[in-house]
Amino acid sequence: MKSQLLEILAVSAFSILTVSTSVAKTPVYKDSKAPIEQRVEDLLSQMTMEEKLGQLSQINSFNDPKWNVVLYQNIKDGKIGSIINEVNGKRIDSLQRMAVKQSRLGIPVLFGRDVIHGYKTIFPIPLGQAATFDPEVIAAGAHAAAVESSSDGIRWTFSPMVDISRDPRWGRIAESAGEDPYLASVVGSAMIKGYQGANLSDATSIAACAKHFFGYGASEGGRDYNSTFIPERTMRNVYLPPFESAVKAGAATFMTSFNDNDGIPASANHHILTDILRGEWGFKGFVVSDWSSITEMINHGFCSDAKDAACKSANAGVDMDMVSGCYLKYLPELVNEGKVPMSVVDNAVRNVLRIKFQLGLFEHPFISTPQTVKYSAENLAAAKQSAEESVIMLKNEGDVLPLTSGVTTLAVVGPLANAPYEQMGTWTFDGEKSHTVTPLNAIKSMFGKNLNIIYEPALAYSRDNSTEGIAKAVDAAKRADVVLAFVGEEAILSGEAHCLASLNLVGAQSQLISALAATGKPVVTVVMAGRPLTIGKQLDESKAMLYCFHPGTMGGEAIADILFGKASPSGKTPVTFPKSTGQIPIYYCHNNTGRPANRTETLIDKIPVEAGQTSLGCTSFLLDDGFDPLVPFGFGLSYGKFSYSGITLDKSTYSAGDVIHASVTLANAGSHDATEVAQLYIRDKVGSVTRPVKELKAFRRVALKAGESTRVDFELPVSDLAFYGIDMKRTVEPGDFTLWIGTDSNASLSASFSVK
Ligand code: GLC
Repeated sequence: MKSQLLEILAVSAFSILTVSTSVAKTPVYKDSKAPIEQRVEDLLSQMTMEEKLGQLSQINSFNDPKWNVVLYQNIKDGKIGSIINEVNGKRIDSLQRMAVKQSRLGIPVLFGRDVIHGYKTIFPIPLGQAATFDPEVIAAGAHAAAVESSSDGIRWTFSPMVDISRDPRWGRIAESAGEDPYLASVVGSAMIKGYQGANLSDATSIAACAKHFFGYGASEGGRDYNSTFIPERTMRNVYLPPFESAVKAGAATFMTSFNDNDGIPASANHHILTDILRGEWGFKGFVVSDWSSITEMINHGFCSDAKDAACKSANAGVDMDMVSGCYLKYLPELVNEGKVPMSVVDNAVRNVLRIKFQLGLFEHPFISTPQTVKYSAENLAAAKQSAEESVIMLKNEGDVLPLTSGVTTLAVVGPLANAPYEQMGTWTFDGEKSHTVTPLNAIKSMFGKNLNIIYEPALAYSRDNSTEGIAKAVDAAKRADVVLAFVGEEAILSGEAHCLASLNLVGAQSQLISALAATGKPVVTVVMAGRPLTIGKQLDESKAMLYCFHPGTMGGEAIADILFGKASPSGKTPVTFPKSTGQIPIYYCHNNTGRPANRTETLIDKIPVEAGQTSLGCTSFLLDDGFDPLVPFGFGLSYGKFSYSGITLDKSTYSAGDVIHASVTLANAGSHDATEVAQLYIRDKVGSVTRPVKELKAFRRVALKAGESTRVDFELPVSDLAFYGIDMKRTVEPGDFTLWIGTDSNASLSASFSVK
């Protein structure tokens, strides 16, 4: 009896202890003080297969009463790890409450959205932000976007897009940082810093996503989603550096690209997703496919069906399936059949959970950022600064700009003078045109009744082929002192799947500019576009030209400030402008070839009749458009008159571990204060493989008052000269180099050095 009693007492004591322990003991994964890796392992160890696959599945939001029942149940069953395109904060919090409080393990959902260049306050499109050559302004823009989007519960953006883009026919050049690997690396890293902030777990930080991995910008023919043919060495020397920089900048996620490169779709490319991204670069975040890019491998003819696609993507290293549903559906079978090891699934889940823990989602899964952050004065000011620095002045004949008080009547014409929606550009899902300040409205606000403004759009929209409205615009021009002509592209003409064979101004815009120029009045043309356009004719017909890659919400104020001298333009071209599409691909960091153009070739209109076969010389140029582009990379004028002199290097010979100290005198002989982007280029004159004639390796924004000059110093580690050579290893090869410092990629002031 006694022993029974003791046994009962012992069991009950144990059970009390257990209960008390269980009541008191918080699971490790819910312990915010526990190391993240321990939390990951603890949670993973408790997850069912279905719950694991839930974390690897992103669905597109839908708010359909008849389907919500299914959605809610799937969330409660832990089958949905991420939702894309839900932006209603109240609904996000409600769905999150289901996940956190009603699912078995309470794993928060990660809500994602394309916050590409602003959420509500829209900044210049990324190509415009790249034109600022200002990483601080770029980071500030990304931070503003993070703060605004987090106020609606978005904690993940699919940005920065760092695809090297050298074909302006491709609509997505608008989303890129242009043609140069160094500039794209700086721009991408700045955006990641802005999105993710000092601490990813801050409620206003959002996870960045470096995309599209890899080579998407080389889509053949400039046609979106098309195949690319990038060999390993070019991949490593040109297309991968911005992605490697993104890993170093701490990007939380990566996204695969739609294209197949040399026959392998990116979403099944084990070499880049596992060997390089994880093996060489040590990436610890997670990889998401692009929209259905896994099952699109069936269309590619790379996979036989969705199950095959799920198998190849999972084994290649894609952690999360964006909206195709094939992981949730087929991975159980594939694991049971031994075609996808359970370790692959577990590692993918680890990668996703790691980011969710780093985001602090388990500690603060619900919205805590106030709605007042949207369109805050701070964000609008940041957007204006970015827009102002993104404006590129391509021409300013006779210093017609800035406009002076001598202008009493102004003709403001063109379809983009007052186009609030178009001005925001592509990928502005959540921007609201009602907040856009257009150039027309900015100028009116600036002058009120003190300036006679005649407004004539002439065309209803950029593609409008009707010339009926041109006469009124011409009449306005005849009555004005100066004509401001706002032309370019509607937002829909660039961005995803919006590629063009011709880059001439669309509609009757070209006729409009010609008619305005024919009046003899000075025409200042302002182009708003998502890409470089072939605007050579308009450049000839205009006294001055400002080029603005869709400048966003505050673009109008920024442009007005520049037109009237409250600010000086400082933007530089992040991409080469071709004379014609026939010159494409055209970019500054090209190889020299065995027969480089000498730039004095005889062009087609000057070729003598019956010219002898070899009389024109045999060099690498085009008979009609020659060799030079319309506008080179890195180009942009300002109201300053900048000159470079006195370039010096601290040594003439360097060792591999050295830092090159280069210096130059920059003077502003103009009558306006202005900012110059001084650029440093190098050339490796002889390599184990051919090397570009120039490569941007550093740049500095330098503000100089009128008449001021200063020394500009650069420090360039010799290790930055490394490239993948004949042995496919990244090394600095000994030899002779040229270094230039100047105002654009045609910089001529140079110095020589050697690396031993
Ligand atoms: C799109 C784009 C990608 C975007 C994703 C989600 O197709 O390629 O850049 O982030 O789908 O909208």
